[in-house]
Amino acid sequence: MCGVAIDGHNNEVKERHIQLVKKRGNVKALDEELYKQDSMDLKVEFETHFGIAHTRWATHGVPNAVNSHPQRSDKGNEFVVIHNGIITNYKDLRKFLESKGYEFESETDTETIAKLIKYVFDNRETEDITFSTLVERVIQQLEGAFALVFKSIQYPGEAVATRRGSPLLIGVRSKYKLSTEQIPILYRTRNFENVKNICKTRMKRLDSSTCLHAVGDKAVEFFFASDASAIIEHTNRVIFLEDDDIAAVADGKLSIHRVKRSASDDPSRAIQTLQMELQQIMKGNFSAFMQKEIFEQPESVFNTMRGRVNFETNTVLLGGLKDHLKEIRRCRRLIVIGCGTSYHAAVATRQVLEELTELPVMVELASDFLDRNTPVFRDDVCFFISQSGETADTLLALRYCKDRRALTVGVTNTVGSSISRETDCGVHINAGPEIGVASTKAYTSQFISLVMFGLMMSEDRISLQNRRREIICGLRSLPGLIKEVLSLDEKIHDLALELYTQRSLLVMGRGYNYATCLEGALKIKEITYMHSEGILAGELKHGPLALIDKQMPVIMVIMKDPCFAKCQNALQQVTARQGRPIILCCRDDTESSKFAYKTIELPHTVDCLQGILSVIPLQLLSFHLAVLRGYDVDFPRNLAKSVTVE
Ligand code: G6P
Repeated sequence: MCGVAIDGHNNEVKERHIQLVKKRGNVKALDEELYKQDSMDLKVEFETHFGIAHTRWATHGVPNAVNSHPQRSDKGNEFVVIHNGIITNYKDLRKFLESKGYEFESETDTETIAKLIKYVFDNRETEDITFSTLVERVIQQLEGAFALVFKSIQYPGEAVATRRGSPLLIGVRSKYKLSTEQIPILYRTRNFENVKNICKTRMKRLDSSTCLHAVGDKAVEFFFASDASAIIEHTNRVIFLEDDDIAAVADGKLSIHRVKRSASDDPSRAIQTLQMELQQIMKGNFSAFMQKEIFEQPESVFNTMRGRVNFETNTVLLGGLKDHLKEIRRCRRLIVIGCGTSYHAAVATRQVLEELTELPVMVELASDFLDRNTPVFRDDVCFFISQSGETADTLLALRYCKDRRALTVGVTNTVGSSISRETDCGVHINAGPEIGVASTKAYTSQFISLVMFGLMMSEDRISLQNRRREIICGLRSLPGLIKEVLSLDEKIHDLALELYTQRSLLVMGRGYNYATCLEGALKIKEITYMHSEGILAGELKHGPLALIDKQMPVIMVIMKDPCFAKCQNALQQVTARQGRPIILCCRDDTESSKFAYKTIELPHTVDCLQGILSVIPLQLLSFHLAVLRGYDVDFPRNLAKSVTVE
C-alpha cells in the first residue's frame, strides 16, 4: 500500500490545496496513478517540489487505498500525516474524537493522529500558533511508537516531522556551503504544566544560527526518511533525529526543537556523511536484491573481516570493543539477543563462543526474553544482534538490560541506528546495505562478527592457541569457499524445479548446523510461503519422525564435525521410514551420499565455520522456489524489513 500528498496548484479554483493519491498496490502502481490525470478529482499540475509519501504493509485494517497513508483530517485534506510505528492508545483517542463529531474513514491507528491535530488546531487559543507547536501538542497525547511527517493547507510550504521509538532521519542536499554542520536544538523558553497552557508558551525566535540553510542563493533540499537507503540516491548527508525531536522545514530552512532540556541531552544534532553508495543498493544484473545479496557474500564476508583479522599475527582487533574488553572478560555470562535471522546468528555461534570465551552463553529471542522478565545483572554482558539496528523487540530488550546496568554491545549493519547509538559499545558488521526482506548476507557477517569477538576474547589463552590458529586460517579461506558454493546455483535451481510444487519442506541437522536448519527453514517460509521447519536431529525421535514417509521432502545437513556419527544415525532412521533425504554434505563424504536421494556437496572448512557455507545452498534454494512459485522475492507478503513495532 502506498500514497502521496503534495501541495497542489489548482488553476480552476485558485486556492490552497493538497492533492492526495493513494493506491493499494506497490509504488509503481502509485506512480502510474499519479500521472493518470483523468483519474484525479481535479485537474492539477504538479509544479511543486514539496510532498510526503509512504509505503507500508497493513498493520491495522485490510490493505486498500483508504487504509494507506497519508491519512487525513477531513475530506478537504486540511492536515495529512504519514506514520511508521503503532499507536497503542488509538482506540481511546478515536472514541474521544468521535464524541467531538469527527468521522473516521479508515481502520488505521494513524487516522487518529490526523484528526487529533485538526482538533488541536480548531481549539487553539491563539491565532499565530506554529505548525511545530501543534505537532508537539499532538505527540503529548500519543502512546506507542511513531515516526511522523505532517503537512497542512494551513501551513503551505512547511512540513513537520517527529519520532518516538521509530527511526527517522533527515537527508540534506545543497549545491552551496551550508550555514552550519551542527544544528542547535531549540527549547521552549517557558515550561508548561498542562496541555492547556501550551499555546501561551513561545519558541525562542529563530535566527540564522538556529536553523539550517544554504549560504548562497537558495536551494537546500531536505528529505525525511526512516532509512538511509531511501534517500541515498539524492544525498549522503544526514541528520539522525532523537526521540521527541520535532523537526520543521519552513521557507526552505530546517530547525529542530524539543520541549524540555534534560541534563543528558546533546544540545545539537550533527550532519553526518554516510559511506553508502547508490550502486551498492542497485540490483545490477540480478533479478532481485535478495539474489544479489546472496552472491555478494564473498565480498561482504571479506569486508566484515577487513582491517580486523590479522592473518600474519593470528590476532583479531574489533575497534569498537577494545576499550571494554577487560570488563567483558570479567563478566559472569554473555547473553546474545536478537529476532529472526539475527537470533539464528546467535544460535549458530553459541558453541564457539562458549569454547573461546569459557563463559556461559545464553541465546535469546528478544520478545521471549522480555516476556519472561529475565533476571539480568550488572556483571552480565548483553549482545544485541540486529541488521537494521531498529527492531523494536531487540531495542526494548536493550533498554531493559541497560536499566539493570549490564554492559550492552550492539552488533548491527546500520551506522547511526538506534541500537548502535544506545549500546555502550559495538561491532559494525560492514555487510553493506541489505534491501531484500529475507536477510542473507547480514547473517553470514553477523556470524563472522561473533566468531571474531570469541577470537579476540581468547587471545591470552595458551590452551586455545592451536584452535584459534585453525579458526583464523578458516576465516581466511572463506571468501574463496563461498564462491565455490555459489557455483552450485544451477544444481540448486534443478532441485527447486523438483520441489516447488510441494507444500512442506523439513530441514534437519544438529550441533554447529542446527542454526543452518532454522535459518534455511525461515528463508523458505518467508519467501516461498511453503510450510518449513528446522528440526534438531537429536529431537527426531521425539516427534518429527512421525512426519517422515516417501512423500515428505527432507533436507538433511550432515557435515564432517563432532556430530557426524549422530547425524548418520538420524539418516538411518529417515531411510528406514522410506524417507528420501536430500543431503547437504561435505565433498569427501562417501558414507552419507550412499543413502541420499540427492546430494549437494560442499567444500569443507573448520567445524565452527561450516554453517557459513551450509546456509548458502538453502538461501539459493528458497530464492529459486519463490521465483518458480511466482512470488515477489524481495517483498514477501505480510513481512517488513525493519519491524519497528512490538
Ligand atoms: C524482520 C525481517 C527479518 C529479520 C528480523 C530481525 O522480521 O523480516 O529478515 O531477521 O526482522 O531484524 P534485524 O534488523 O533486527 O536483524
